[in-house]
Amino acid sequence: MAARESMEEALVAEKHAQYVLSVEKKKDDLESMVMEHLRMNGAYWGLTTLDLLHRIDAVDRDQVISWILACQHESGGFGGNIDHDAHLLYTLSAVQVLALLDKLDVLDVEKVSNYVAGLQNDDGSFSGDEWGEIDTRFSYCAICCLALLHRLNKIDVRKAVSYVVSCKNLDGGFGCVPGAESHAGQIFCCVGALAITGSLHHVDKDLLGWWLCERQVKSGGLNGRPEKLPDVCYSWWVLSSLIMIDRVHWIDKNKLANFILDCQDKDNGGISDRPDDAVDVFHTYFGIAGLSLLEYPGVKPIDPAYALPVETVNRIILGSRGPSSSN
Ligand code: FPP
Ligand code: ZN
Repeated sequence: MAARESMEEALVAEKHAQYVLSVEKKKDDLESMVMEHLRMNGAYWGLTTLDLLHRIDAVDRDQVISWILACQHESGGFGGNIDHDAHLLYTLSAVQVLALLDKLDVLDVEKVSNYVAGLQNDDGSFSGDEWGEIDTRFSYCAICCLALLHRLNKIDVRKAVSYVVSCKNLDGGFGCVPGAESHAGQIFCCVGALAITGSLHHVDKDLLGWWLCERQVKSGGLNGRPEKLPDVCYSWWVLSSLIMIDRVHWIDKNKLANFILDCQDKDNGGISDRPDDAVDVFHTYFGIAGLSLLEYPGVKPIDPAYALPVETVNRIILGSRGPSSSN
């Protein structure tokens, strides 16, 4: 493969796996403290990274599962850690990790899906939690979560889609609420929500594809909005969206792979937002996930809409072993 030959750097996969495992063990350094309140998201980033790198077996699955269940509230939602408030952001991560570990059957599916469905508002939007903030991130979280639980029938999908479409801008992109500027992270959420619900016909693919491919800067990296610096995490937000609308051939994939590889700490493992910055689990995940979308050798393929390995999505969505068929 020509692209592979011209990649100057190689992926230090084993070092990244060791880095992710070491962050989980060190509970009192700075990164762990910053992560404390979003540990559920961290579990999703870290475990998905390990799975994409074929190293999920290094994890104590039973310990992860009992910790996840200890983060669940009476409402059915999950917190970012034990004794932290429930939120859709953490509820999706909890469901994604259980899906990854093939353990959705530990859940009371009706309870979790009732919590998620209860956050839908009359206009079809979703609040993130009981306090009511509305954002298309939460529309994605709810739709992805309910699809994985085979419970999309619990919400008004037509209204959910029409709310997401109401956040579409004249440049073809999407924002967090109607009228808010286009942002690649929100575009992933909106396009992902539309992809999962079979509603991609609402996207102006050429217009959005143009906006997204303009995110690639000279170094090969992608930014999230015009005039911003490139950042490894946008390898995921932009690239997954381009794939979902079938316009990924509009960027230079080889240059992007080299940008991600350039952000590796080749000695200690981990990936940073930009070359020579400090690494963290968030950017390590999105770097590996980006390389997965670029079909980098040795990295498992990831699904651009569900943000889970393709084999997991196939097992749950296409297969016969989802919770709906076993209940
Ligand atoms: C940029 O954030 C990213 C977003 C706004 C999208 C976040 C999406 C979710 C939380 C949904 C769940 C995601 C997955 C992958 C399952 P930022 O705060 O880094 O933005 P900035 O670069 O403008 O600071
Ligand atoms: Zn970033």
